[in-house]
Amino acid sequence: METLIPIINRLQEVFLTLGAEIIQLPQIVVVGSQSSGKSSVLESLVGRDFLPRGSGIVTRRPLVLQLVNVPPLEERRKQDNGNKCLSFKGLSYLYSIDCRHTYCGSKNSDIETQVQEMILSYISNPNSLILCVSPANSDLATSDALKLAREVDPDGRRTLLVVSKLDLMDAGTDALEVLLGRVIPVRLGIIGVVNRSQHDLNTQKSLDDSCKDEQVFLQRHYPSLASRCGSRYLARTLSRLLMHHIRDCLPELKTRVTVLTAQYQSRLNSYGQPVEDHSATLLQIVTKFATDYCNTIEGTARHIQTSELCGGARICY
Ligand code: GDP
Ligand code: NA
Ligand code: MG
Repeated sequence: METLIPIINRLQEVFLTLGAEIIQLPQIVVVGSQSSGKSSVLESLVGRDFLPRGSGIVTRRPLVLQLVNVPPLEERRKQDNGNKCLSFKGLSYLYSIDCRHTYCGSKNSDIETQVQEMILSYISNPNSLILCVSPANSDLATSDALKLAREVDPDGRRTLLVVSKLDLMDAGTDALEVLLGRVIPVRLGIIGVVNRSQHDLNTQKSLDDSCKDEQVFLQRHYPSLASRCGSRYLARTLSRLLMHHIRDCLPELKTRVTVLTAQYQSRLNSYGQPVEDHSATLLQIVTKFATDYCNTIEGTARHIQTSELCGGARICY
């Protein structure tokens, strides 16, 4: 992980210089409306409290997960009235790799469009998996995340849905139909979770305890689906999907880099000036990135596998 981070940073720098659109790195993009539970889901995936809650600098992650918050329309309107600055909490883009925040100030009256465009720019990358997070206590048909995912992935080949807040549904209702895909089918799967509530966070409930309680909740309320729900199952599923996805993406990525390198090299050569040879460096970076990335993913998967309480479940590489 320690060696991977500088490599990813370097790769990003390289591709930012070249133009981020010309290369499409495999990634998971987490999309969901404000407070749908994105940070909570990421924390339970990572298994550590690492997202900003006043606890200082965020631990760097081996995977670049771009997390984009979209506050509900009403909230955005409220916050934006009188041309006031949107609060930091209300609108922040979180890059978990180093937890940089960007937020938009008063001049951005078209903030909603900007946010949508930003999300779309990430999820339209055919190499991103789209992890939609929608709370069980609001109507799935109005899910911002799913709506956006549909736009770029109409067949749902890259879209996975996490239904959060199963514990917060009205008495007498449940999410069974939603989880079974009978309300809106999602091809890569629909996984229900119970994250820590605000009270749990305030009382510093551990992720471990939360995970145990989640299992108890699922067994009690969704016995037939308990083995296909919950944070651990989500982690396993994502690991598997991402590994296969990266394997699928890398050859093309490498080819693309080779082609681009040759193109730029010949363009540079055509200027008739002596140029330093960066091509070898770039390929080295990509190769190292690919190897380390796969190793890290496999390491993560093994970790998840060994910490899996039920046992028996195997990750397919
Ligand atoms: P984000 O804005 O999408 O990143 O959402 P957060 O992860 O920050 O969660 C927003 C709030 O919802 C926090 O107070 C969480 O404690 C709470 N929350 C998230 N998921 C759940 C859940 O599954 N159950 C309950 N009860 N609360 C949740
Ligand atoms: Na939030
Ligand atoms: Mg958040």
